[in-house]
Amino acid sequence: MNWKTRITDLLKIEYPIIQGGLAHLAYSNLAAAVSNAGGLGQITAMSIKDPEELRGEIQRVKKLTEKPFGVNFAIGQHGRPFQEHVQVAIEEEVPVVSVTGGNPTPLFEQLRDVDIKKLVLVAAKRQAIKAEQLGADAVMVVGQEGGGHLGKDDIGTFVLIPQVVNAVSIPVIASGGIGDGRGLMAALSLGAEGIEMGTRFIATKECVHASDSYKQALIQGNENDTVIIKRSLGAPARAISNNWTEQILDLEKNGTGYEEMKEYISGEANQRYIEGKLEEGFGWAGQIMGLIQDIPSVDELFKRMILEGETIRQKWS
Ligand SMILES: Cc1cc2nc3c(=O)[nH]c(=O)nc-3n(C[C@H](O)[C@H](O)[C@H](O)COP(=O)(O)O)c2cc1C
Repeated sequence: MNWKTRITDLLKIEYPIIQGGLAHLAYSNLAAAVSNAGGLGQITAMSIKDPEELRGEIQRVKKLTEKPFGVNFAIGQHGRPFQEHVQVAIEEEVPVVSVTGGNPTPLFEQLRDVDIKKLVLVAAKRQAIKAEQLGADAVMVVGQEGGGHLGKDDIGTFVLIPQVVNAVSIPVIASGGIGDGRGLMAALSLGAEGIEMGTRFIATKECVHASDSYKQALIQGNENDTVIIKRSLGAPARAISNNWTEQILDLEKNGTGYEEMKEYISGEANQRYIEGKLEEGFGWAGQIMGLIQDIPSVDELFKRMILEGETIRQKWS
C-alpha cells in the first residue's frame, strides 16, 4: 500500500511516522532504528551539552543508517546558546532539523542558505500560523494528551489537528496521544500528513537510555497515571505521576516560585527517573501510556502499525 503524503515526499521517508525529540533519551541508536524502519528518527541536541559530542552522535547515526534523520532543538527550555550545535548540524549536512519551545527565527536565519528541512513543533493554531509565516516546511502539532512540554490551552489532538490543517497550507504532522496504527489512521483522517510519537518510542528495545523500570512503568500505568506539572511556571508538561510529581504539585499549590522548585524539576531529577530511580525524580510520558503493553523493537512496532493501518484501509474500502 502507498503511504505517500507531502511529508513522506518532503522528508524522503517511506512511512509518515516521526520520532519526536526525547530529552536524555533520543540518541543515535533510537534515531537510526526509526529511520531504518522507514520513518524519521531524531537525535535530541539539547541533552548533549558539548557541540562536538553532538557531532559524534550525528556521525554514529550516519554509520547506522543511510536514511534521512533529524536533529531536534528544544530551544526555550535550557536557555543554553544553541548556535554552535546548529552549526554542527549544518556542517554534518543533517537532512532535517526540528525546533520547539521558543521563537525559531534565529535558528531559521542560521539555516537560511542550506538545504535542511525545517520542522516546528507547536501546540496551538496561532503558533502553527506563525511557524508557516517564518518559513517552516511543516508543523508538528501536539495536543494536550502528549508527553513532555505542552501548550497552555489544554486542547486535545482531535480538536487541534483539523483546525490547524484548515489554517495553514504547509503539511501538518499530528502529535500527542498516538501509539498504534489506529492513531496513525485517525490522524491522517483529520487531515494530518504524518504523525509524531514520543511516549510509544520510549518503550522500544532501541531506546537504550531508558531503564527497564521506566519502560515497565509505562506498561503498568494506565491513561490516568500522568499529571501536568510546571503549570504555575507557565510551562505545563506531562509526566508519570509518582510521589515526586505530587511534591511538585504541592509546591505549585503553595505558590512556590521557580528558585525553590528548580531542584525538583531539574534535568538531574529527570535523569534519575530515566536511570530507574523512580521515586527520586520524574519521567515524562503522555496519556497514551495506557495503551502500551510491550517493548517491541522499533522495526516490529513499525510493521505492526503499518499492518493495522492497512487492515483499516481494507475495511473502509
Ligand atoms: C520523555 C519525553 C521527552 C521529550 N523531550 C522533548 C524534547 O527534548 N524536544 C521536543 O521537541 N519534544 C520533546 N518531547 C515531546 C515529544 O517529542 C512529542 O511531541 C510528544 O511525546 C508527543 O506525544 P506522545 O508522548 O503522546 O506521543 C518529549 C516527550 C517525552 C515523552
